Amino acid sequence: MADAPASARQLLDFYLEAGADALIGEEPVDRFAEPAPVSRTVPAAPAPSKPDRVPLVPAAAPAPAAPDAAATEAREAARSARTLDELRAILERFDGCALKATASRLVFSDGNPDARVMLVGEAPGRDEDIEGVPFVGRSGKLLDLMLAAVGLDRSSVYIANVVPWRPPGNRTPTPQETQICLPFITRQIELADPDILVCLGGPSAQTLLGQSGITKIRGRWFNYTTGTREIRAMPTFHPAFLLRSPLQKRFAWRDFLAIKKALGG
Ligand code: URA
Repeated sequence: MADAPASARQLLDFYLEAGADALIGEEPVDRFAEPAPVSRTVPAAPAPSKPDRVPLVPAAAPAPAAPDAAATEAREAARSARTLDELRAILERFDGCALKATASRLVFSDGNPDARVMLVGEAPGRDEDIEGVPFVGRSGKLLDLMLAAVGLDRSSVYIANVVPWRPPGNRTPTPQETQICLPFITRQIELADPDILVCLGGPSAQTLLGQSGITKIRGRWFNYTTGTREIRAMPTFHPAFLLRSPLQKRFAWRDFLAIKKALGG
């Protein structure tokens, strides 16, 4: 028993390393003890002979709205926003994305909505979830340094994410979650109406530009249609990747110089 606190800490460390750093309920849930889901099309099987049999398949989590219905609702809701403030208010009320239930808050934007440059990341992390502001953690600090290196700061750029709620444990958003959030970020870009769009990292470039292979596409200019006009868009490395691979910073530096040049400076 004397080891209990130490092993509890080891277990917590294990969870943290596995990315489970968010509490989503007060009571532990033994999902293996819940009944297996019953198919709607196949008649229910007769009751098992052993009543205490543990199902091999864990029960599904409470189902959010069907993804197609949520995506349709998202498209209609996003289209109805006439200003960025309205879009934020609509997102605050939108329940179609399951990530909202596990995130602490909406992370909508930072910086200057009138700026000529808009940067779009993938999804908020832990620090962003706590503060409700994009790119405020370690990668945000690096982003600030990269901006400063070309004479920009948060008063001269507008910042958002493809997905505005933190995925639990910073996991990658699922394709469905991204699809549901897509109408909101595209409307956000349309309403902010920047001259230059910068996709921070592969997932942002994939979602917004339909381009994959960040190492190959970074630093190249693409056309992005906002809905009202065509603007220039450039994918570059995500600052979180640069923290892990500092040698790649020289390429990001080139990209930011090209962005600065495109701004005419
Ligand atoms: N990474 C992102 O993609 N966005 C943030 O806001 C923070 C980290």
